[in-house]
Amino acid sequence: MDTLYTGHNLIRLQRVDSTNNYAAKLIQANKWADGTVIVAEEQLAGRGRNRKDWLSEPGKNLTCSFMFKVFSLPAKHAFVLNAAASLAVCDALLKFAPALNVRIKWPNDVFIDDQKVAGLLIESQIRGAFVESAIVGIGLNVNQTAFEFPRAGSIALATGQACDKDVLLTLLCSALEQNMLRLKSSPQHLMSRYNEFLYALRSERTFLIRGEEVAARLLSVRNDGMARFDIRGSVYSCELDDVIWRW
Ligand code: BTN
Repeated sequence: MDTLYTGHNLIRLQRVDSTNNYAAKLIQANKWADGTVIVAEEQLAGRGRNRKDWLSEPGKNLTCSFMFKVFSLPAKHAFVLNAAASLAVCDALLKFAPALNVRIKWPNDVFIDDQKVAGLLIESQIRGAFVESAIVGIGLNVNQTAFEFPRAGSIALATGQACDKDVLLTLLCSALEQNMLRLKSSPQHLMSRYNEFLYALRSERTFLIRGEEVAARLLSVRNDGMARFDIRGSVYSCELDDVIWRW
């Protein structure tokens, strides 16, 4: 493992309810090292954002959680963690296959072209006004080739060949570690790179914003996670819950 600490404690499980739940139990027991990684071949109750299930064909994909201690990140800027982690997935994918058109759909879905290939579920532990630790759960579709969800894809579908999950896991460990270190030294740099990777940036799309169907352009995302949209020439700041994508 080409990292300082991430993945040095690698817990491989055949089957688990959810790797994020497993990580949360380690935190509760106060028995974990910075950079611990939990990988499962199968999740029986994989969780996505907004209380959705995360479905993944057993053995085909990466379902894993990375555990990090976090230093001096104000809780009100916890979104920068999302930016750091989703960028790390992009960096790892581009190292693996540089020609891929990798993008981040706000807040943290990773797309190749118009297909979602990865989802992130980040669960932070807050103490006082600061983030103390974070569980970065990543579901990365690697070798699955059939999906129920119409806009889902995988690296195998994008590259046209079966891919080595362990190579991808090693790339994820080093990209995540680098970005976790940048959280403290250069959060603004992370946010500007995050913005460069945004899916559908500045292109006119249809959204349901606060209940109204509108044509809008996504302009940028701030470090508190709010997005700025251009709607009919005026700029509006929106929270995630205000916005539904229409495809
Ligand atoms: C989403 O797109 O809604 C986020 C999906 C996150 C799925 C991963 S798989 C590994 C980790 N364990 C979970 O239960 N969820 C995350």
